[in-house]
Amino acid sequence: MVKEEISKNPREMVKEGYNKIATQYRALRARDSEDVRLLQQLVERLPKGARVLDAGCGSGIPVTRILARYFDVIGVDISEKQIQLARKSVPKEKFIRGDFTNLDFPDESFDAICSYYAIFHVPRSEHKGILLNFYRMLKPKGLALLCLGAGDLPHDIADYHGIQMFWSHYGREKNLRLLRECGYEIIWSKIVKDPIYPKSAHLFVLGEKLV
Ligand SMILES: C[S@@+](CC[C@H](N)C(=O)[O-])C[C@H]1O[C@@H](n2cnc3c(N)ncnc32)[C@H](O)[C@@H]1O
Repeated sequence: MVKEEISKNPREMVKEGYNKIATQYRALRARDSEDVRLLQQLVERLPKGARVLDAGCGSGIPVTRILARYFDVIGVDISEKQIQLARKSVPKEKFIRGDFTNLDFPDESFDAICSYYAIFHVPRSEHKGILLNFYRMLKPKGLALLCLGAGDLPHDIADYHGIQMFWSHYGREKNLRLLRECGYEIIWSKIVKDPIYPKSAHLFVLGEKLV
């Protein structure tokens, strides 16, 4: 990739990109794939009505909507269009248009934080800060169900459904190390195929705040 491209603000690229492809992404998004079934892990471990943050919630379909059957959910997304769709799709839940990398909810606000296919749209030098801030916002024994990179990718910009999209992530071992350094106990981790692009796979982790 040429240096000039990375000098474009990745957040702007991601926000503008999802603003343009939100409807298309929603149409393609799998509703009953392995990643979606992992949400059951939160359902089994948390009481009904628990407070859950969905970071990078997209249009709310399917993840926020499933979580909302059991929990009190707040969805956050940087894309105005995604948030607009989410408010229509899951009307009872609260959605905030914002950047999940600088959330300032008080300490110990959430019983769980879920983030699917979103952290890897942020430059990886910021990932530890995101994980630490999530940890801060979790209640003691709170759970983090996260999708992270499975392989090493310093950064990439590529065509994605006709727009330019940005990705950046560490590999499995480094991600697990980062999580442990932040204080999470890893309950399980697994590599799961991307339901839209089965040639790609991602690391899914269930971590617990140890306090
Ligand atoms: C691939 S979509 C995934 C949506 C949803 N989580 C799902 O599983 O279908 C990634 C979403 O993350 C959002 N996103 C990326 N970076 C973000 C950031 N820094 N803050 C908030 N949302 C972000 C994008 O706008 C997009 O809606």
